[in-house]
Amino acid sequence: MMSEADRLTIFDTTLRDGEQSPGASMTREEKVRIARALQRLRVDVIEAGFPAASQGDFESVQAVAETITDARVCGLARANEQDIDRAGAAIAPAPAGRIHTFIATSPVHMEKKLQLRPEEVIERAVAAVGRARHLCDDIEFSPEDAGRSDPDFLCRIIESAIDAGATTINIPDTVGYNLPAQFAGLIRSLRERIPNADRAVWSVHCHNDLGLAVANSLAAVREGARQIECTINGLGERAGNAALEEIVMAVRTRQDDLPCDTRIETREIVPTSKLVANITGFQVQPNKAIVGINAFAHESGIHQDGVLKHRETYEIMRAEDVGWGTNRMVLGKHSGRNAFRSRCDELGIRFETAAQLNEAFQRFKELADKKHEIFDEDLQAVATEAVAAMEEDQSVTLVAFRCCSETGETPVAELTLQIDGEERHNSAAGDGPVDAAFKAIDGLLNVQAELLLYSVNNITTGTDAQGEVTVRLERGGRVVNGQGSDTDIVIASANAYLNALNRLRTTGGRTHPQTDGV
Ligand code: KIV
Ligand code: ZN
Repeated sequence: MMSEADRLTIFDTTLRDGEQSPGASMTREEKVRIARALQRLRVDVIEAGFPAASQGDFESVQAVAETITDARVCGLARANEQDIDRAGAAIAPAPAGRIHTFIATSPVHMEKKLQLRPEEVIERAVAAVGRARHLCDDIEFSPEDAGRSDPDFLCRIIESAIDAGATTINIPDTVGYNLPAQFAGLIRSLRERIPNADRAVWSVHCHNDLGLAVANSLAAVREGARQIECTINGLGERAGNAALEEIVMAVRTRQDDLPCDTRIETREIVPTSKLVANITGFQVQPNKAIVGINAFAHESGIHQDGVLKHRETYEIMRAEDVGWGTNRMVLGKHSGRNAFRSRCDELGIRFETAAQLNEAFQRFKELADKKHEIFDEDLQAVATEAVAAMEEDQSVTLVAFRCCSETGETPVAELTLQIDGEERHNSAAGDGPVDAAFKAIDGLLNVQAELLLYSVNNITTGTDAQGEVTVRLERGGRVVNGQGSDTDIVIASANAYLNALNRLRTTGGRTHPQTDGV
């Protein structure tokens, strides 16, 4: 029987650090859907965003706080009054909330970025924690870039932060520079040297620049860290954060070496991974541990033979325990509205209004006419598009589309768009049907954006599977994703392009938490 001291808190930051991956920004509705999936996965803490970044970010954190009942909802704040107050207001509706405040402590960050003396950094940290403590009784403090900070200085600032009321101390390896033994040594020495260390939970937040985020996090657990900050699919700034699925399964599989446990419902891992990939457009590499499509596939004859004789010859985990193989065929052409709604409920897909449900059901019916078997992943895609169509500004929509592609001929796309209520028609030739479609759209919209990514994935298997297209565009430093799915991948591409263009047409400047001062 594990004691409370052996509980490892899983702090998910997919909605905050994960969103800092260029192009992974999410709408409020998308964040709420992911938060619901994280709740079903039973993470302990959901870091929902950085409320001071923009009004949109504030509202997203607030919407998550209003929705989630079985996890603590956290908002990030730099160590200044405005950020703390915004974070406090955004998480206020949550039954259990947390403010996470941070300030950089490495010499290079203090001198070059903050332009503050070390004493001033301590003063700001103490003031921030103290102010946050008036708004919430659960406060996390992070000395940013701790992995490259002077340990003596870390001891001083952390001791002061705990005295000021911090309940969790998080040690970030912000630039992914540390090696496992070194990082473990840092955690050990801080816990040994800081007199009030036992008054806080110790946490780690590792980046993956050297591919060591998970290894560093687990090394810290062996030194007493009892919270790990991580993201689904390892999403995050640059090379990403420690992958939640790898942390959880390592702890579960290697109890001999890591004697602690999480409350994660592991069968929700793969569905959550797919949802995050679907919403962000960041697909998972096939050989990715746990959630890659090949993670449990045995190709070599010797391995197959071994597994058939006795599974443990080559398998250390069971695919079904992490949620593989649970995409049951669910609905078809004859399924009614109640069946549709109840399966969506089981998948955690909630429609805020009757209009959203109607739109999704309508799209489901259209899909069922084209595709015999409708899987859970198809429903997720249908819901994503229906909610986007209802909630976001869709000033441009596709009314009709035709494309001609023939051996030896240049493909031509013809389309009709509705632009701000008016129907417009255009046609264009291109190197391929998708190129022709995008050129026909460009001709009507005077698009001045750079295409950063175009990717197509099959949502399920089979030649009748829906193609899910992600288009990433950049204009004036702003990066947006657009998604489209259809059994016809050229139509899916045109819809994804229009979805991204509609998002570019809306305003939405946001601040990055780690680039501009305090
Ligand atoms: O990487 C980092 O240092 C962070 C902090 C805000 C915790 O994301
Ligand atoms: Zn980070």
